[in-house]
Amino acid sequence: MKHLAIVPGDGIGKEVIDVGMDVLDAVCEISSFDYDGELFDIGSERYLRSGELLTEEDISDLRKKDAIYFGAIGDPRVKPGILEQGILLKMRAVFDQYINLRPVTSWFPLVPLKREVPFDIHFLRENTEDFYMGAGGTFSGAKKEAFVKVQREMYGLEMELKTDSSNGDDFAFEIGLLSRKGVSRFADYAFNYAKARGDNKITLVDKANVCTHIYGMQRAIFEEKSKEYGIKLEYMFVDAMAMAMIVRPETFGTVAVPNLFGDILTDLGAQLQGGLGMGASGNINPKGVSMFEPIHGSAPDIAGQKKANPIAAILAAQLLLENQGYPEEGMMLRRSVRYCLDNGLTTPDLGGKLTTEEVGKAVCKYILEQKK
Ligand code: NAD
Ligand code: IPM
Ligand code: MN
Repeated sequence: MKHLAIVPGDGIGKEVIDVGMDVLDAVCEISSFDYDGELFDIGSERYLRSGELLTEEDISDLRKKDAIYFGAIGDPRVKPGILEQGILLKMRAVFDQYINLRPVTSWFPLVPLKREVPFDIHFLRENTEDFYMGAGGTFSGAKKEAFVKVQREMYGLEMELKTDSSNGDDFAFEIGLLSRKGVSRFADYAFNYAKARGDNKITLVDKANVCTHIYGMQRAIFEEKSKEYGIKLEYMFVDAMAMAMIVRPETFGTVAVPNLFGDILTDLGAQLQGGLGMGASGNINPKGVSMFEPIHGSAPDIAGQKKANPIAAILAAQLLLENQGYPEEGMMLRRSVRYCLDNGLTTPDLGGKLTTEEVGKAVCKYILEQKK
């Protein structure tokens, strides 16, 4: 019996997790997988009511679970960053879920490219460092000298730092930080992942031609690991990678990407799979509590309209099942998605006419029929 924490969150997060749970229930009926789900009231409603984001009590309760199944957070009534940092990013940090696995797989006929080419890219996004550490601030006046000095050393000239204190602080900055230990464990995970998948190379995405300090260090560490594991290493700058994903997605297998670029490239990846309603992810701590979620947000523009595509949440449940040792059961979900696509049983974003719940019912029916 697996003990799952269910955190539907906000907006369509609630709608798609409802379906995801029905689907997990259907899997329980026809397989040896069994779970109990405890519902957690974490999200904007509670925040607006009580000011609470992710509390100590939440954390200690979540820590007792085998895994977390998460919907989405985000609410137009709340200033950007509060819920995202206070709940989702804090969750990833507290549970040290340092890998964000985001598969990008072709689902014909949804591939929006000129060439209908099959691809199966597995993005491993580093999930705890880079520009996501909240390390930054604002300042005025004297402190600017420190920045001027760094630039002088870099370019041999003083670039003007524009000053205008009439309206608050002059400057704002955000630091991207990588640690040797953080990059090393990320690289170890990536090389082991590639090996398990039978990939003979890893693609490391960065911007080492501009952010030379952080991504220079990252390259050096990956290079060492590449020799250690006997798996080739290929570099791609993130701008070129965005283009290559459109032009030749079939040439990538295991892709390692730092946090911020990984966020951006995997929304592009979702669109290659048919849209944000198709992209699933697992926030993984190999030795701790992992969390599975669709990559999309709370979609305030369609929330409450029964239009949300639940497939991303269903595929996130597949990742959860695989992670918990039930790969066969996971494959049932994948086959059920294939069945929906083949029979036009989809929400409007994929051209269908069904509601979120109706897609869920179709998936459950398909799964239960496999009992016979
Ligand atoms: P979003 O992913 O919520 O929506 C982007 C667009 O894609 C919208 O037009 C939406 O209608 C559509 N879309 C998303 N999921 C869909 C689905 N399942 N079916 C059909 N259409 C779907 O991104 P956003 O609008 O930039 O952000 C809204 C809020 O969500 C913000 O507060 C943001 O911070 C938050 N957010 C949360 C997460 C998360 O919890 N993991 C992820 C991304 C964004
Ligand atoms: C995602 C989201 C989050 C991220 C936000 C909501 C903090 O966009 O899961 O992709 O940037 O990681
Ligand atoms: Mn994102």
